[in-house]
Amino acid sequence: MTTDASQCSSQRGDWWTTFFDDTYANLGLIARQGADATHIVEVAIRELKLEPGMRVFDQCCGIGRIAIPLAQRGMIVEGVELAASYVERARADAAKLGVSATFVEGDAFRYVASLPCDAAINVFTSFGYAADAARNEEMLRRAFESLKPGGRFLLERFNPCRIVAFGLTPYGSRVPLPECGGDAIILDEPVADWHRGVITSTWTIFFPDGRREVRSFETAMLFPHELIAMARSVGFVDIELRSGNGEPYDRHARRLLLLARRP
Ligand SMILES: C[S@@+](CC[C@H](N)C(=O)[O-])C[C@H]1O[C@@H](n2cnc3c(N)ncnc32)[C@H](O)[C@@H]1O
Repeated sequence: MTTDASQCSSQRGDWWTTFFDDTYANLGLIARQGADATHIVEVAIRELKLEPGMRVFDQCCGIGRIAIPLAQRGMIVEGVELAASYVERARADAAKLGVSATFVEGDAFRYVASLPCDAAINVFTSFGYAADAARNEEMLRRAFESLKPGGRFLLERFNPCRIVAFGLTPYGSRVPLPECGGDAIILDEPVADWHRGVITSTWTIFFPDGRREVRSFETAMLFPHELIAMARSVGFVDIELRSGNGEPYDRHARRLLLLARRP
């Protein structure tokens, strides 16, 4: 089966307002609820020194993949998410598990947590979607404003220096899609646009029933010095970079952590 332009999501404009649908939830989030989510939860607890009873803001929380386990560990969690269906799913999953957590449908460029928090997180490359750096900085400012004085922030995303060092290669992955009776294959063909400082990822998704869909999205590279400058500009102090596992940051790291504190 071939694909046509109507099946391709646009990479222009605010792509994130339409990209995060049921297909992405199944392939990108539900399939990564196990070990991948547990790793991020453990990193957040360790790096932010989270303890039961602390209030945590999860910016761009998706289906609650990280927020719900944090709430299960005793944190008081508030998540904000743009996709209404993801918010519904997060609320339903939390209720099913008997977990108390608050999920708000809202725009993280504007939304500030309803009460000042001890910690805030923005994980799994949920930051850097806007083409305009000033707009991305606004999201960081909302994380800052959501914190109590002394509150700590964790940003987790891909490491752009690894791309400079080792390049980008097409990558195939197999993702179980039980409701479609098999596995989907995703061929991810990322391309770096060094002039604009963005990575454009084009996914060709081969569904178990023979359908094929192509969709693209783009994310700002945001090199360490740019992230640090943005974090400083919104008021954060004690800004540190680490590799995704919490080790010292270097170009080999697949993931990057930025840690910071509201003074
Ligand atoms: C890559 S997913 C990660 C979700 C979640 N952080 C996790 O780790 O499971 C990015 C999420 O950010 C949400 N998002 C993107 N832009 C947003 C915005 N401006 N406001 C709120 N949510 C947004 C998307 O709808 C999507 O659920």
